[in-house]
Amino acid sequence: MTDSTTPTAHNLACLDKFPGLNLLVAGDVMLDEFHWCTVTRISPEAPVPICKVNRTELVPGGAANVAHNIKTLGGNPQLLGVIGADSTGNKLIQELHKAKISADNILKDPERPTTLKSRIIAHHQQVARVDREDVSTLSEALESQFLYKLKLFPSNLHGIVISDYLKGTITPKLLQTLIKFGRSHHIPIVIDPKGDDYKKYHHATVLTPNFSEFELAIHQKITSEEQLTTEGLKLIEKLQLDGLVITRSEKGATILNKNGSRCDVPTKAKEVYDITGAGDTVISVLAMGMAAGLDLPTATHLANEAAGIVVGKLGTATLTLDELKETLHNEQLLKHEPPVS
Ligand SMILES: Nc1ncnc2c1ncn2[C@@H]1O[C@H](COP(=O)(O)OP(=O)(O)OP(=O)(O)O)[C@@H](O)[C@H]1O
Ligand SMILES: [Mg+2]
Repeated sequence: MTDSTTPTAHNLACLDKFPGLNLLVAGDVMLDEFHWCTVTRISPEAPVPICKVNRTELVPGGAANVAHNIKTLGGNPQLLGVIGADSTGNKLIQELHKAKISADNILKDPERPTTLKSRIIAHHQQVARVDREDVSTLSEALESQFLYKLKLFPSNLHGIVISDYLKGTITPKLLQTLIKFGRSHHIPIVIDPKGDDYKKYHHATVLTPNFSEFELAIHQKITSEEQLTTEGLKLIEKLQLDGLVITRSEKGATILNKNGSRCDVPTKAKEVYDITGAGDTVISVLAMGMAAGLDLPTATHLANEAAGIVVGKLGTATLTLDELKETLHNEQLLKHEPPVS
């Protein structure tokens, strides 16, 4: 059964709690590099454009982009991740410092390069993306360091966000330690999952796969909305989740709850310039909303609104709390609030 929920002013007041939220963000951190170029001719060496770089922009990516989104929304992210002992890693740390995000819990692995995704963009069109990465699983020594860092974590956390890009940081042991920690402290554990085996995410609060990631997870192609509901609820039951948020690009998102309910939110994007990092914004706002006490459909509404804002910006974008509030006001989401007596 499809149903639609609109946040009330009471629920939206939860946005004012965002600035006090402490969120642990664990996952695959990366550096996003954008080369903004102009093309004037085709190369004599091969039928490819010659891109003259006018400007290079560096932005925290992956789990670091989740931390960045939480920061710009006023929250306090505690970022845990792994970089290599290389210049890309140093650049990522510099960008984190600029964004006022602590790099104290970023571990260095001399055995792997820092994940770097370089985009070549000419006249607002992406011409190519060049990836540098090593996706082998974290060594046991680094995993132990990670677990040790977790033990030292303050208990004043309001939520846990796990951004798993399958780059090797998020081991099953680490996942289960984080999930156990979150469950024992009664805080939401929101995970952006990857891969075809979700057993490792057992007992998380919410997973946020996109549509094709969901198909991969259930080893089936989805051909009807009914099948989506049935298979989604089966996955919730199998993994003992509280809910599932399936993001659907231009179709918005579908929310499934362990009580069997389904709710669909259409995208709020007005103009789409760049979808890079939209999934990171969804998980950040969803986790902040839930940590602030919103239910899953309402938190997803906010997350979907926020994603609609960032896809209207170029590059790996973030948004501020004021931008989110302003958009919600403009959409007159407050009109359902009963008059104050
Ligand atoms: N083409 C689009 N048009 C409108 N809205 C979009 C579009 N792409 C993404 N969105 C918005 O962003 C949200 C997340 O997008 P999507 O489902 O593509 O996630 P994703 O594939 O995980 O993204 P990412 O590439 O960042 O991992 C959607 O739920 C929607 O609100
Ligand atoms: Mg994604």
